[in-house]
Amino acid sequence: MKRIFPEAKAGARGPFPPFRAECEITALEWEGEIPAALEGTYFRCGPDRQFPPRCADSWPGANADGMVSAFTIGKERIDFRMRYVMTERLRAERTASRAMFGAYRNPFTDDPAVAGIDRTVANTAIVWHADTLFACKEDGLPYVIDPVTLATMGRYDFDGALGSATMTAHPKFDPATAEMLFYGGQIDGLTSRRMLFGIADAQGRLVRRVEFDAPYAGMVHDFAITPRFAIFLFVPVTTDQARVEAGGPFWIWEPHQASHIGILPRDGSASDMRWFTGPAFWSWHMMNAFEEGDLIHIDTTVATHNALFPDAVGAMADPAPFKATRITCDFGDAGNVMTQRPLAEFASDFYSCDPRYVGQPYRYGFMAASAPACPPAPGYNAIIRLDHIEGRMKIWPGGDQCAVQEPVFVPRHADAPEGNGFLLVVVSDFRAHRTLLRILDTERDDLTPVATAWLPFLIPMALHGTFVPRAQIDRSERDDQTCD
Ligand SMILES: [Fe+2]
Repeated sequence: MKRIFPEAKAGARGPFPPFRAECEITALEWEGEIPAALEGTYFRCGPDRQFPPRCADSWPGANADGMVSAFTIGKERIDFRMRYVMTERLRAERTASRAMFGAYRNPFTDDPAVAGIDRTVANTAIVWHADTLFACKEDGLPYVIDPVTLATMGRYDFDGALGSATMTAHPKFDPATAEMLFYGGQIDGLTSRRMLFGIADAQGRLVRRVEFDAPYAGMVHDFAITPRFAIFLFVPVTTDQARVEAGGPFWIWEPHQASHIGILPRDGSASDMRWFTGPAFWSWHMMNAFEEGDLIHIDTTVATHNALFPDAVGAMADPAPFKATRITCDFGDAGNVMTQRPLAEFASDFYSCDPRYVGQPYRYGFMAASAPACPPAPGYNAIIRLDHIEGRMKIWPGGDQCAVQEPVFVPRHADAPEGNGFLLVVVSDFRAHRTLLRILDTERDDLTPVATAWLPFLIPMALHGTFVPRAQIDRSERDDQTCD
């Protein structure tokens, strides 16, 4: 008998083998000056497989259990904690002491004993809304996480009002209204093209719910908002019931299909959606979107083709880099054509902007990138602040063999100018085999860090995170006590 992860069997454990340890370190080692603006907790979420997989998988990385981590930042102290999201699926597998669920989004490959148990692993993003912390993945409902202990509190569906089996891992937060805007895909069946757009108000109540049909049953990983619109990108990575039932991959790349952008008035119905069309491309994450007269600009990752999923005959395309790109749709034009122009020439992803400017005309975008002049790393090697007005960049190199993860921006103070503040960046240092939390100052030349804390080991790469000020967490905990 044995229990061995395939990453180990292959002898190529990769940069991030399964870690699987839930852990806590009080008072990390650190040096520098910790900014007062960062008193709070930087939460992150990513995949970390608990058990060796049950079968071959079309997308194993996305099918690993959700692990949330937290850097809790005080005046001169940073604590660290990491725990699994205790999903229904992970509970079932821990009871069985082995993987019971099969391939990514394919229940036909599961052990029949787990039929009917929610399959999501909640491993993609962690977001904060209405004093509540949610771990999210687009194939299921979010799980509520205790922001202090990281204990899993249970699934969330707006007390049954959501009417969907899924919710995106990339909701958007309107800085003017404090609303959370979101969507769900495949809401009424594993491979359906039925989608949902929803708005939760500042108190977390579901105040708007619109259903619509996508052009095809495809992946919609991220979306964008402006004050008037919700913007959906449909790129031709599609699913098919017969293929999934036959044990095939959930997603395939169909380059003969068009890409579509659906722009829905936030207060409109499905029939009000305005459609724009272009050639096939692949998109991942949004930087921002904004209105300029009749124009809608959408800043996002664009790859000329998909290199993550096979095509209909099982062929994988050569890798195509994600590049920051501005897509523009013209409401004043009777046509339905979208245009594209590049924002940067090298590969990049994990985009964001100053959260106070979401949906607004904005100057600064943040991203992780493969910057040509920076030392190499097994992953993105630099953090960039992109200045859309002057077309310039500040570039911070992560260091030799240091892979940078998603940057999360925190303003220096509530009234600070746009983009003036700090970037929280976790860095995997493969030379020293440790994990760094770097705090970059956007006003310094080349974003030079003002402080660094470190874990004395490598942890798996997380995907997305969020910073929550301590005052909001304290209020959340008080509210919980009141409810009890
Ligand atoms: Fe994502």
